Amino acid sequence: MIKIEHLTKKYGNHTAVDDLSLNIEPGRIYGFLGPNGAGKSTTMNIITGYLAATAGTVTIDGHDIFKEPGKAKQHIGYLPEIPPLYPDMTVLEYLEFAAELKGIPRAKRTEEVDEACITSGITDVADRLIKNLSKGYKQRVGIAQAILGAPDVIILDEPTAGLDPAQIIEVRDLIRSLGKEHTVILSSHILSEISEVCNYVFIISKGKLVAADETEELLTHMNGSQEVDLTVKADLSQADGIISALSAADGVDNVEVNDSTESGCISVKAHAGKDHDIREAVFKAAVGAGLTVLEMTTRSRSLEDVFLELTTAEDTADETDEASEDSDAPAKETPEYNTDETLKEGGDEE
Ligand SMILES: Nc1ncnc2c1ncn2[C@@H]1O[C@H](COP(=O)(O)OP(=O)(O)O)[C@@H](O)[C@H]1O
Ligand SMILES: [Mg+2]
Repeated sequence: MIKIEHLTKKYGNHTAVDDLSLNIEPGRIYGFLGPNGAGKSTTMNIITGYLAATAGTVTIDGHDIFKEPGKAKQHIGYLPEIPPLYPDMTVLEYLEFAAELKGIPRAKRTEEVDEACITSGITDVADRLIKNLSKGYKQRVGIAQAILGAPDVIILDEPTAGLDPAQIIEVRDLIRSLGKEHTVILSSHILSEISEVCNYVFIISKGKLVAADETEELLTHMNGSQEVDLTVKADLSQADGIISALSAADGVDNVEVNDSTESGCISVKAHAGKDHDIREAVFKAAVGAGLTVLEMTTRSRSLEDVFLELTTAEDTADETDEASEDSDAPAKETPEYNTDETLKEGGDEE
């Protein structure tokens, strides 16, 4: 459906999108997840033909967005980060105007606008001025504009940003229902949003794709460190023996022993190395060491932990790249990226 190949966008010498390649298949809800400044909006603006790329290609249903923008854009409905609304128009006037801009034939406009209003749940406010609507309704009007003309793909840039919790739930429900008829791509810097709404996640950090997987798979496969918590009948004088016995278990990375709130017991935490399921090995090692296990629980890391790890790991990789590039270029005063700058930038945008 959409094929992005080696897409790069530079603003001056700042690389906002860095050799990004990915595929969008029909019929799913995709999430672009990344911290502020990751390059999500830039990527969306390029896919939708609002921004030129520095290098790389984007094809939509076989049409190159740069060579055949008209044909490519027909397949896409877009809600940019700042919705292009006209506050002094009524909802209906605005949507009729948007339908005209999209080249929907006059005879079909009323019907299409009505349909978009029904789908987005804004029929009740169709005659109101846009400026008098709540932010949640304004966002729905923006979504109605995006779905006009029944495009195959709907691209929504941070569609719930700035909404209150009730409005967020409504807009998420709307996005889920759009996913039944359309391919949807939405961006967010909020993990829970992506994990609740999207089937498939692209994690973007500093313009690069750092992970791409089914939401479920991301949660299970990429969660590198499982933690097994045990309550065993023992006291702290046995700690060293317990640590050495459990550390020897297959896949275990490190073991911590602490006092337990329960008298006569200690609490043991065994951390797994990446991609290891250590439950069985830990249990057997504990029994092998003659321990009485009263309780055993497993914790997996959240998508949030995975996300942080991926986006932080990328920082380091990036600096290494930068350094090697610099070696054959004239010395630069300041590196293009540094963590402080990114944090500041994130803060500003919030
Ligand atoms: N018009 C622009 N001129 C210069 N830099 C820009 C421009 N737009 C975005 N950037 C920079 O490109 C990077 C990616 O921005 P953006 O695509 O908006 O990220 P996101 O949507 O993920 O927050 C950021 O570092 C941002 O400051
Ligand atoms: Mg953005």
